[in-house]
Amino acid sequence: MIKRTCLAVVLAAGEGTRMRSSLPKVLHQIGNETLLAHVLRAVSQAGAADCAVVVGPDHDAVAKEAARAFPNATIARQMQRLGTAHAVLAARSILERGFDDVLVVFADTPLVSAETLRTLRDAIADGATVAVAGFTPDDPAGYGRLITDGGKLIAIREHKDANEAERAIDLCNGGLMALDGRRALALLDQIGNANAKKEYYLTDAVALANEAGLKAVAVEVEEDDVRGINTKAQLAETEAVLQKRLRAAALEAGVTMIAPETVFLSADTKLAGDVTIEPYVIFGAGVTVESGAVIHAFSHLAGAHVGEGASIGPFARLRPGARIGKGARVGNYVEVKEAVMEAGAKANHLAYIGDGHVGEGANIGAGTIFCNYDGASKSRTEVGKGAFIGSNSALVAPVSVGDGAYVGSGSVITENVPADSLALGRVRQVIKEGWASRLRSLKAAGKKSGG
Ligand code: UD1
Ligand code: CA
Repeated sequence: MIKRTCLAVVLAAGEGTRMRSSLPKVLHQIGNETLLAHVLRAVSQAGAADCAVVVGPDHDAVAKEAARAFPNATIARQMQRLGTAHAVLAARSILERGFDDVLVVFADTPLVSAETLRTLRDAIADGATVAVAGFTPDDPAGYGRLITDGGKLIAIREHKDANEAERAIDLCNGGLMALDGRRALALLDQIGNANAKKEYYLTDAVALANEAGLKAVAVEVEEDDVRGINTKAQLAETEAVLQKRLRAAALEAGVTMIAPETVFLSADTKLAGDVTIEPYVIFGAGVTVESGAVIHAFSHLAGAHVGEGASIGPFARLRPGARIGKGARVGNYVEVKEAVMEAGAKANHLAYIGDGHVGEGANIGAGTIFCNYDGASKSRTEVGKGAFIGSNSALVAPVSVGDGAYVGSGSVITENVPADSLALGRVRQVIKEGWASRLRSLKAAGKKSGG
């Protein structure tokens, strides 16, 4: 098959006022990824090598996110919000470069799948000029209705412009569209704004194609594919759908989850087969877990790498830059940030390991703190291979403990500890024989004399 060129035009100029947020709507996240990034990934997977993101006049942050998520995206600005066709035409100069297919996608529809977009492109490759994603919502109010005749799509009537008979149609426009790239501009340029909203409706491309004797088709898709987000409630509902998909994919890949509905994943979470995840675990962005590792209940991970067979939690926190080696153990109430724990290293209880490196097989005792911050800057702590840090020690960075060295419990270590030595950084214990009984007799005598 000859490879067809495809341009995706992603409309992101929405106002999103119903989100009641200072953040532009398409920068809200599900699965720890912006709505815009989800859509850009889908269009890229559907074969769009070029992409134009249409943003509003004050949307520099949206433009920046588009450039991050789709590095060669072109940013087009729609200065006035005059309708969906007007928005697509903001990308006119890119459309003029000429493409086989043009996909039009709304940036607030994050669950759109690459497969659905490919089906629309295939319809164009098969000879349609316009292909529209249709779906049957529980409540069609507000959506454009698809007016069909047999297999042909005749027109799309916006809810506000529809008569009673048209409003009774339950097949609705999901908002995704593919156009024949050779005819897209000619059709878009004919669209007027003589309608209830005085907007240039992209959906009018269907009737115009029919008038020109060109074919328009509807492709029926799942509601989730076209689930649009206008409110925080819809954002939460869409998150729930995404979580279900991510959990199902993890289970399918061989991850064991006792209560998957209590585990929250990110769109980019990478879990190998034979990973076990206990209930109530949260994965922030950027986590990879290797095979055989166990993440125990109530742990929170973000930006972390967990090696083969490692054990995390319960109640552990891995923050960005945590790299846990093969078979290493991070136990309850242990926080690791920007630190490596080499293979077999252990921190089983109550510790903070920040900005450091813990060598192979080293043991970090309960209550150990890497004192990495002096109020102004951060410094690093190195713990050598096989070293043993006694409980309740404070390692004041920058500092290093050599291979195989011991640090006595309760030490405050401010100077480097040589390999294989013992460091004690605490006050020597003092014993005062009989002191307690003397105190008690003094108190008793005082009471008798009434003093
Ligand atoms: C649109 C469709 C409707 C469909 C529905 C699906 C049109 C005319 N109508 O209606 O048939 O059932 O989506 O959700 O296309 N946008 C801009 N600039 C504009 C106007 C819109 O960028 O000037 C963007 C919006 O940010 C949004 C998308 O286009 O992402 C859709 O616009 P919206 O006004 O929400 O269209 P609907 O009335 O929902
Ligand atoms: Ca809408």
